[in-house]
Amino acid sequence: MNVVVFASRKGGAGKSTLAAHLSAQAAKPSCPALLIDADPQGSLSLWHGLRGSAQPALKRAPRGLGEALKAAKREGYSWVFVDTPPNRSMVVVEAIRLATIAVIPARPSVFDVAAVTETIEICRTMRTPYAVVINAAPAKRNDAEASIVADARAGLTGIKAPVWSGQITQRSDLCFALGAGAAAKEFDPDSLAAAEIAQLWSAIERSVKAINGAHESARAMHRAAA
Ligand SMILES: Nc1ncnc2c1ncn2[C@@H]1O[C@H](COP(=O)(O)OP(=O)(O)OP(=O)(O)O)[C@@H](O)[C@H]1O
Ligand SMILES: [Mg+2]
Repeated sequence: MNVVVFASRKGGAGKSTLAAHLSAQAAKPSCPALLIDADPQGSLSLWHGLRGSAQPALKRAPRGLGEALKAAKREGYSWVFVDTPPNRSMVVVEAIRLATIAVIPARPSVFDVAAVTETIEICRTMRTPYAVVINAAPAKRNDAEASIVADARAGLTGIKAPVWSGQITQRSDLCFALGAGAAAKEFDPDSLAAAEIAQLWSAIERSVKAINGAHESARAMHRAAA
């Protein structure tokens, strides 16, 4: 079971937005997904309540994430997506500790980029792989990213933070979809919003495969050495 945690102490960075769209992107009958709403604000619970579909399933767990994840494993989920509150509380630290990967959304502004350092620090302390995702970016022009995005990317690279090479653009489709209890691909499968979410999901899948592969080879080396 893979656990994707969305974390950033900056409010409004896009944690709940990405968690909702990506969990629906991942959920398939052969690959059941669970959303855990660990934020007392309950944004994902609100979205889930508007949804006509049971997939992805949702559990609220503002506390006791470890137990919720154990239960999810017993219940046979392949993917779990955890939305967290905008702070560095024990709930967030615990979520990052238990994550296969932490996704840190950041808007491309100096305040937002500066604010990710606290969350990155938690990931590094917990030795949890992480990636920053530039969210709500101005649209590309002729395939070139906006200078504010390039600046944000340079700032993040300067602190050696892994940053997803793509971007999630500021798109009203992403908001309209959530208001309809849908994900981007359900709301308009041919939209640019749906295409960007699909690209981000395949990047996360590839990263998780690499993380699991690295654990496997570390285990094999351990066995060989024993
Ligand atoms: N790429 C985007 N395009 C358009 N709107 C977006 C995008 N990302 C986020 N938003 C909007 O910005 C607002 C904040 O996003 P969201 O609630 O996902 O952030 P959050 O990090 O979960 O916030 P909080 O820290 O308060 O939980 C929401 O109204 C959401 O619809
Ligand atoms: Mg939120």
